[in-house]
Amino acid sequence: MSNKPVRLGLFIVLALSASLPALADVDGQHLYRQHCAKCHAEDGRANTLRGWLYFAQNLSKVKWQDNNSDSDILEAIQDGPGAMPGYADTLSEAEQLALVKAVRDLRKP
Ligand code: HEC
Repeated sequence: MSNKPVRLGLFIVLALSASLPALADVDGQHLYRQHCAKCHAEDGRANTLRGWLYFAQNLSKVKWQDNNSDSDILEAIQDGPGAMPGYADTLSEAEQLALVKAVRDLRKP
């Protein structure tokens, strides 16, 4: 019996496991700075010119954080309420979920 198929199988398993951490390792904070900070500001307070022009939500506010569930936030990211663009087609699900977490991290005590 040749062990060629075995080696091919082993190669595939190794290739797959090497690419999995890359998938799990989506940096929500980086995505936030890249896509959201121009309106909502780095700290979420939306005190930017664009945030002010578009009436962007202050995401750091405790009251807002308490009144919105993770799925509310996910929905906002996907649909883009008001002047905000929707990201349903441009960001993967993993990226959208990482952004929900990044928005949660903006909460100010
Ligand atoms: C072009 C400016 C702009 C960009 C870019 C933007 N937003 Fe917004 N966002 C807004 C505005 C304006 C609102 C308020 C809309 C409203 O109240 O109708 C808003 C609202 C929200 C809300 C709250 C909705 C609610 O129900 O209170 C969340 C959460 C949010 N944005 C997250 C994000 C995230 C995360 C990103 C990046 C992926 C992002 N936004 C990018 C302008 C922007």
